[in-house]
Amino acid sequence: MSPMFPANRNRTPSRANGSWSLPGSEYGDSRKKPHYLWRFLLTALLTAACIIILKQSSGYNRFSHHDPGVTHVLVTGGAGYIGSHAALRLLRDKYRVTIVDNLSRGNMGAVKVLQEMFPEPGRLQFIFADLGDSKAVNKIFSENAFDAVMHFAAVAYVGESTLEPLRYYHNITANTLTVLEAMAAHGVKTLIYSSTCATYGQPEKMPITEETPQVPINPYGKAKKMAEDIIIDFSKRSNMAVMILRYFNVIGSDPDGRLGEAPRPELREHGRISGACFDAALGIIPGLKVRGTDYETADGTCIRDYIDVTDLVDAHVKALDHAMPKKVGIYNVGTGKGRSVKEFVEACKAATGMDVKVEYLSRRPGDYAEVYSDPSKINSELNWTAQRTDLKESLGIAWRWQKSHPKGYGTPSVGFLRA
Ligand SMILES: NC(=O)c1ccc[n+]([C@@H]2O[C@H](COP(=O)([O-])OP(=O)(O)OC[C@H]3O[C@@H](n4cnc5c(N)ncnc54)[C@H](O)[C@@H]3O)[C@@H](O)[C@H]2O)c1
Repeated sequence: MSPMFPANRNRTPSRANGSWSLPGSEYGDSRKKPHYLWRFLLTALLTAACIIILKQSSGYNRFSHHDPGVTHVLVTGGAGYIGSHAALRLLRDKYRVTIVDNLSRGNMGAVKVLQEMFPEPGRLQFIFADLGDSKAVNKIFSENAFDAVMHFAAVAYVGESTLEPLRYYHNITANTLTVLEAMAAHGVKTLIYSSTCATYGQPEKMPITEETPQVPINPYGKAKKMAEDIIIDFSKRSNMAVMILRYFNVIGSDPDGRLGEAPRPELREHGRISGACFDAALGIIPGLKVRGTDYETADGTCIRDYIDVTDLVDAHVKALDHAMPKKVGIYNVGTGKGRSVKEFVEACKAATGMDVKVEYLSRRPGDYAEVYSDPSKINSELNWTAQRTDLKESLGIAWRWQKSHPKGYGTPSVGFLRA
C-alpha cells in the first residue's frame, strides 16, 4: 500500500497546441486572442483560488475524501501507548491518520503532541468515540474515507481479564466484530490487527512459531483468539487484506522523547514489568516484586521476549505495505531472544541509575516459565527484524520520558471531535 502523500498536487491542464480556441472564435479577429486568453486565465485562476479557499475552510473535510496517492489509516486506540507510537510513525511516513479512542485508558496528551507536530490540514484528526457503540462506529466510517484500519484499541491486562472477563470479551471480541462489520459495510479493504502471544497460552515447546497451537489460558488471550478467529473466518469470504500481528512483551518509547507509556495510576496493580521498574525508580512504589525464583530456567526466574515499541510500529508499517487482498498474514512480533526477569531487573537498575529494591517472592499462579518467539516468518516475508534488542537501551529511552513526565501526560483536556 502506498504511503505517499503527494508533495506536489498541481494539476495544470495541458494544452495540446499553442492557442486556445473557443467556440465561434476559430476565424475571429486575431487581435481578440489575447483578450480571450486573459479571460480564460483569470477564470482558471479564480477557480483554483476558490478551490483552495474551500479546502482551507473548515467546511471542507479532507478526511472524508480519498485523495490519490494518500493512504488514510484509522488508528483505533491511538491515544494509547502503542497506538500513539504507531500514529507518530504513520504521520512521519506521510500517511493521513484518524485516531478513534474513548480515552478510557489512553491520553489526550499523546494526541496533543501529535497534533502539534502535524498541524497541517488533512494530516491528523482525533475522534472521541467508544468502539462498543456500533452507531457511532458506523457514523465514523460513513463520514470518513479510510483505506486501512490498524485496530489497537483494547483493554489489555491479563490479571484484570481474570477479574472482569465479560468486559474483556466485550471490549476485545465484540468490538472487533463491530469494527469488521463497519469495514465490510463501507468497503475498507485492509486490516492490521493487534494480537498477542497470550493467544498461545502455555506451549510446551519454545520458541513459539505461528504454527504453535493456540490454547489461551486467560480471558484476555481467549478474547484476542476469538477476535482473530472472527477476522479469519470473515476474510475467507471477502477480499479483505488482513495482517494479524502477535506481539510479545512491548517496552520502550519514542527515541526522540515525544511519547511515552502512561497508564492510569489505578491500573498500576495490573501493570507491566517496565511500568513497575519506573514506578520503583521514581519511588512511587517501594520496590519490585519478582514472583518465582524456582522455574526451570538458567537463573530460576521467568523468561520473556521484550520487543521495543519502535520496532513494533515498524512491523505495522511493513505489514501495511505487504497486505494483499484475500490474504491473511499472521506473524509473531518479537526479538526471538528470551530474557530472564533477573536480567530485566538489572537492566532497569542500569537504565535508571537507581538502586531499585527487589523482593523475591513465591510463584504467581498462572505464570509460565518461558515465552519467546520465533520471528523467522516475519523476518523472511516482511523483511522485518528487531533492531533494538538492548534492554538497557530501550529502558533508558523510556526512563528519560518517565523522568521528564512524572505525572504522565497530565490532565486530559477537552476540545475534540465527538462521533
Ligand atoms: N502492551 C503490550 O505489551 C501488548 C502486548 C501484546 C498485545 N498488545 C495489544 O496492543 C494493543 C494496544 O495496547 P497498549 O499497550 O497500547 O494499550 P493502551 O491501554 O495503552 O491503549 C489502548 C487504547 O485503546 C483505547 N480503548 C480501549 N477500549 C476502547 C474502546 N472501547 N473504544 C475506543 N477506544 C478504546 C484506550 O483508551 C487506549 O487509548 C492492544 O490491542 C493490546 O491487546 C499489547
